[in-house]
Amino acid sequence: MDTITINNDKQSLHNVRLGKDVKIYNFVNAYGCTIGDGTKVGTFVEIQKGATIGQNCKISSHTFICEGVHIANNVFIGHNVTFINDKFPQATNEDGSMQTEEDWSCIETHVGEGASIGSSATILCGVRIGKKAIVGAGSVVTRDVPDNAVVAGNPARLMKYFNHILI
Ligand SMILES: CC(C)(COP(=O)(O)OP(=O)(O)OC[C@H]1O[C@@H](n2cnc3c(N)ncnc32)[C@H](O)[C@@H]1OP(=O)(O)O)[C@@H](O)C(=O)NCCC(=O)NCCS
Repeated sequence: MDTITINNDKQSLHNVRLGKDVKIYNFVNAYGCTIGDGTKVGTFVEIQKGATIGQNCKISSHTFICEGVHIANNVFIGHNVTFINDKFPQATNEDGSMQTEEDWSCIETHVGEGASIGSSATILCGVRIGKKAIVGAGSVVTRDVPDNAVVAGNPARLMKYFNHILI
């Protein structure tokens, strides 16, 4: 993998570890993250430091992938999907000073191989989305999602199991 930095009027990529044949569309802001071979990243996506994205994933436009998010291979992420890494975020400390990285801890989230996350879903931190699971559009995922499960709603509830063979 090469580590690249590109800053122009269309893209801001800083210290991004890129696999082969990665397609990054315009107005992506990505820094300190890893993106695997063949993955496509749509317009207006932000990917923060420490996030990892596997091979052959599709990340649709307007999605936010924060620090602590780990996405396996062949994952589909819809438009406007929001990940979260801090359950009780605060701008300032008790003394009124701005919080820094030392004042909070990042909680990790994992998305399993072949999973699909519908548009505008919000994924709370600390959850594991199983292999080939499907998260419905607009869902708020608050708990782990089993392999092959279809979940939807706020909070996301199990609808059924998708009938396909695990990788
Ligand atoms: C979750 C999903 C996979 C379910 O599809 P399905 O199995 O065909 O489900 P159905 O359309 O038969 O709906 C079954 C029930 O779930 C409800 N439902 C479906 N999707 C829902 C969702 N995203 N959130 C809440 N409820 C949902 C339906 O209203 C229906 O309820 P009812 O039985 O009370 O009428 C699908 O609706 C979905 O959200 N896919 C994500 C699509 C997406 O975001 N694509 C992004 C790229 S464009």
